[in-house]
Amino acid sequence: MVAYPFFFAPYVALWYLSNMRVREKTDENISGLYNKIANKYDKRYKRPIHFVEEEIISEFLPELRSDQTVLDIGCGTGNMINVGQYTNQQYTGIDISEKMLDTAIQKYQGYNFIHGDGQQCVKAGGFDCVLHIFGQLNYMGIHEWLDSIIKNLRIKGTFVTVCYAPSYRPEYIDFALPPVDLFEVENVLNTEGFHWNMWGLTFPTIGHDRLSYKQLYETQHTLTHSASLADCQYYIIVGEYCDDKPSLYVVE
Ligand SMILES: C[S@@+](CC[C@H](N)C(=O)[O-])C[C@H]1O[C@@H](n2cnc3c(N)ncnc32)[C@H](O)[C@@H]1O
Repeated sequence: MVAYPFFFAPYVALWYLSNMRVREKTDENISGLYNKIANKYDKRYKRPIHFVEEEIISEFLPELRSDQTVLDIGCGTGNMINVGQYTNQQYTGIDISEKMLDTAIQKYQGYNFIHGDGQQCVKAGGFDCVLHIFGQLNYMGIHEWLDSIIKNLRIKGTFVTVCYAPSYRPEYIDFALPPVDLFEVENVLNTEGFHWNMWGLTFPTIGHDRLSYKQLYETQHTLTHSASLADCQYYIIVGEYCDDKPSLYVVE
């Protein structure tokens, strides 16, 4: 009678190990995860370094006229509305997580938010600016990310992307998130005829907890513009179509 547990023990161990495999990156896992943390999301990002990140990102956003438009892919709780100072006439946000959007809708009444995959062509495309801020390139994959730009950005429009560098991933991610292959990014952007450039964001600094906000901003700003990408947490990628080589896929 007592032999049963010993007999089954290896099978139980095998079953346990096979269920411990890292979960795969799927749209359901991504939306499920952000649905779970949506009500705490904004509280996580209230440290001085997060305001510095937003300030530096804001410097890379193109100046838009009041009749020009921006599509914020993976808009989450809508934080880019403040960062870019967008009006509700200019701004459309799209996100795969319903709960993140619920928070965005509460915070920014009168703004246009869409629940769905960022890879779709939104409102027939033709946006003057397309944003992917904080990880959508990692979540979507390079070809899907590029596709979402091509479908939605007008000729001479600008895209601004902030993705996770290999040294960083949010601690709440519980599925496999392969690092972005920068050579492939470079290759696909060149092939599609984009002018583009890349910078690092958020570098490790000794004693940063003791710095004033101004010192922290100045240190991080200098590092972003130092041309080094070593050990940064994020890459900022900014691009636009070359005048002489518009993509064949652009919706006008
Ligand atoms: C780290 S949050 C960033 C949110 C916001 N951009 C910000 O700056 O606070 C990443 C967001 O991207 C969304 N996301 C990930 N993959 C997506 C996809 N394929 N289509 C639409 N949204 C996506 C997630 O649901 C999440 O809200």
